[in-house]
Amino acid sequence: MKPIKVGLLGIGTVGSGVFEVLRRNQEEIKRRAGRGIELVMVSRRDLAKAREIVGDHAQVVADPRDIIRNPEIDIVVELIGGYTLARELVLEAIAAGKHVVTANKALLAVHGTEIFAAARDRGVMVAFEAAVAGGIPIIKALREGLTANQIQWVAGIINGTTNFILSEMRDKGLDFEVVLKEAQRLGYAEADPTFDIEGVDAAHKATLMSALAFGIPVQFDRAHVEGITKLQAADIRYAEQLGYRIKLLGIARRQAAGIELRVHPTLVPSKRLIANVEGAMNAVMVQGDAVGTTLYYGKGAGSEPTASAVIADLVDITRLHTADPEQRVPHLAFQPDELHATPI
Ligand code: HSE
Repeated sequence: MKPIKVGLLGIGTVGSGVFEVLRRNQEEIKRRAGRGIELVMVSRRDLAKAREIVGDHAQVVADPRDIIRNPEIDIVVELIGGYTLARELVLEAIAAGKHVVTANKALLAVHGTEIFAAARDRGVMVAFEAAVAGGIPIIKALREGLTANQIQWVAGIINGTTNFILSEMRDKGLDFEVVLKEAQRLGYAEADPTFDIEGVDAAHKATLMSALAFGIPVQFDRAHVEGITKLQAADIRYAEQLGYRIKLLGIARRQAAGIELRVHPTLVPSKRLIANVEGAMNAVMVQGDAVGTTLYYGKGAGSEPTASAVIADLVDITRLHTADPEQRVPHLAFQPDELHATPI
């Protein structure tokens, strides 16, 4: 079967991870998806920078609409970020009959209802595993693994930059500004880091999780949002002395009056697992009536962890798009000799 063809709108930190992991693991990914996944076009205004990343393995264009207009492309991956252009491009891609994968939580938290409705009308898929908690498959957990449950609450550390800042300030006594710069250098922070430190990014993600967990509309404007900018080194020290750690939590909880959605610094007893989530790591807890409490932990930001989630969506869409009954059964034995290759 011919490979499914993918175009990336925007290639930077996450896009280069997608390119790299797709190439490195192409055989496994092909087996699991049932057909090859080929990155054929990428866009970036700075063509030279894009070429530095993909060489001659994909066509490089400056105008993202060249990708949307290309009839060969089956899936468009939006990695441009922001609300305005990204919204236009995603809606145009949907109108052109392309499936869409996006890591853009801001876009979906604000315009998700419109985008999902457009995709449903056009009969295409919109997947966004990478939009929440980087490499942790929390969207798939909420949509698939926990789908039998009445969810009571979802709570977690869902912004790597602020968790990194709080950890470094506590452990190394470093200044807020110094650690923020380091988070930017490591590719954790948003283009506008205000979204990270003011809690907006975490609120975008909590909004998406609450919509999935409780079946409510995507309503970012109803979230209570408070970041970490008012915290001082002394607050972190005092919390520590009292047996607590300060964590920026995103919380969505079912209450008698409706769903409560909030992001704010929270005192967490130091012995709790979640209090010990350090650096840019993320952790999400979900409480369901049938399953009880579950915990998901992993890298919440960065190039390859986020790429891992983007590619998971590409594989999902490829399986569903191909609709080959064979793909409904997992492929488990595609490397039959591996298991006994090394004598113990
Ligand atoms: N700026 C985000 C974070 C990136 O720090 O978690 C991943 O969504």
